This record gives sequence, structure tokens and C-alpha cells, in this order.
Amino acid sequence: MDLYQMIFQRKSVRKYDLAPLEPSILKDLWQYIDSLKPLFSDIQYRIGAPQTHKRNMIPMKAPHYLSFYSEEKEGCLYQTGYIMEKIALYLTLKEIGTCWLGFAQPVDDQIADPKGQRFIIMLALGKGRDSIYRTNVQQFQRKKIEEITDVPELYSLLEAVRLAPSGLNRQPWFFSGTKERIHVYREKLGWFKNSVYGKTDQIDLGIALCHLEIAIQKEGKYCIWEWKESETIYKDRYQKICTVHLSDSNVESLS
Ligand SMILES: Cc1cc2nc3c(=O)[nH]c(=O)nc-3n(C[C@H](O)[C@H](O)[C@H](O)COP(=O)(O)O)c2cc1C
Repeated sequence: MDLYQMIFQRKSVRKYDLAPLEPSILKDLWQYIDSLKPLFSDIQYRIGAPQTHKRNMIPMKAPHYLSFYSEEKEGCLYQTGYIMEKIALYLTLKEIGTCWLGFAQPVDDQIADPKGQRFIIMLALGKGRDSIYRTNVQQFQRKKIEEITDVPELYSLLEAVRLAPSGLNRQPWFFSGTKERIHVYREKLGWFKNSVYGKTDQIDLGIALCHLEIAIQKEGKYCIWEWKESETIYKDRYQKICTVHLSDSNVESLS
């Protein structure tokens, strides 16, 4: 089993066994977190220790929570989604359930961060009271593949992205391009909707990029990210955020 397979089985877990996880599991989790590579090496972030307290508009209790803090720079929300989703998939692989908590806050004394990083979002985690796995893709409520791309040759690669979780299940993503060069778009929102959904939508796109990278790596290729937000609107409603180049070698950037 690997992270790719977890994409097809994961679900949001909202009922937890409240017993704390064994220290060895938490130690392994921190080793995994330390091994992760950022999307943007110039945006510093930190993940807070699993917490037993939080404020949340939705009454959901878990034995642990992970808080993500970041420097406030362009791209920081994409990076948040990308990193935290890797952690969520890794935990799923270890038979630990997770749920993103878009409305939760750490308790007061954990909001202030000594490095000036801002709290972004939290993930609940713990052993599920019921199974934490889906058994087939029909159990995912998602857009159809042709609603998220206009490139049939990308259907099979993008299946793993189609199944990605998103805030309120909005799935604000779209993909075009070719098998070698995939353009990634975010739904363009008007002023009001952007003030409501803008932050979460960017986190969602980071989650989609995490799934896309895992799917590309499954094919034995590497991703080279070309970051260029475009003002041009595609299909009347999508704004390009980046292009992913598929490479046979693990080179750092485009030459
Ligand atoms: C950024 C983000 C924020 C979310 N916030 C919440 C939340 O506050 N409470 C909750 O129960 N689920 C939350 N979710 C979970 C989504 O509702 C869920 O991923 C989506 O409905 C798809 O369902 P699935 O994860 O079971 O596949 C959030 C997901 C994301 C990606």
C-alpha cells in the first residue's frame, strides 16, 4: 500500500476513538513531517504539536489536532494544502483517520507564533470509531472527470485529483494541457464569493497539487512546477495558477 492507493480509499473521519495515539505512532508522524519537501522553499511554515484543545464551530472531538502556521506570502495557502494533504494521506496509510477543520482555531495561547507565522488551518486525527476507508470510488461524491478537464488523454492521471477532498466539497479546480504539460486552474470568484471561499479554495488547489504529484510519481515521472498566475480567464471561469511539467529526471527547475 502507498499514498497513491490511499487517495482511492480515504474519507473524512468525524467520529474518533478519543484515546491518545501511542507515542511510537506520533514519533513516526513527526519523522514523516520532517521529511517533507515544501512547494516553495522561500515560504517558512511550521506544524504545531498535536493538540488536545481547539475551538470549532462544528462539534467534533478527536484525540489530536495538527495546526499549520505559515509566513504570509503569495502561494502560502497552496503550500498549506499540499503539505497537510500529504500528512493526511500518510496517516490514512497508517490506519489513522483525519478530517480537515476549516472553521477550527487553536486555543488562544497557541494562536500567537514566536516566528510571526500565521495560523492557517487544522487537521483532526485519531483512530476512527468506524472504518476510515472507502471500498470503491462510487462512494466519493465528486464532479465527473469531464467537468474538471477538457483533455481526454489526462482522464486516467487526473482520476486521483478528481477524488481530492475540498472545503464544502467545492472542487474549485480545472486542468488543461497535454500529458507532458498540465495547466492547473482555480475557479475565478467575484469579490463577494472570493471573500467567503477564496482562502479555502487556495488550500483546496494545494491539495489537488499534492494528489497530482502523487499520480505523476506513480507513473515514474517527476513534477516541475512553473508558477505563473495568469489574468486570462479560461472557459469564462478559471484562472491559471501554474503549469506542471512532467519530467523523466528529478531536476529542480525549468532551464
Ligand atoms: C480546506 C478544507 C476545510 C474543511 N473543513 C471542514 C470542516 O470544518 N468540518 C468538516 O466536517 N469537514 C471539513 N472538510 C472536509 C470536507 O467537507 C470533505 O473533504 C468533503 O466534503 C469531501 O468529503 P470526503 O473528504 O469524505 O471525501 C474540509 C475539507 C477541506 C479540504
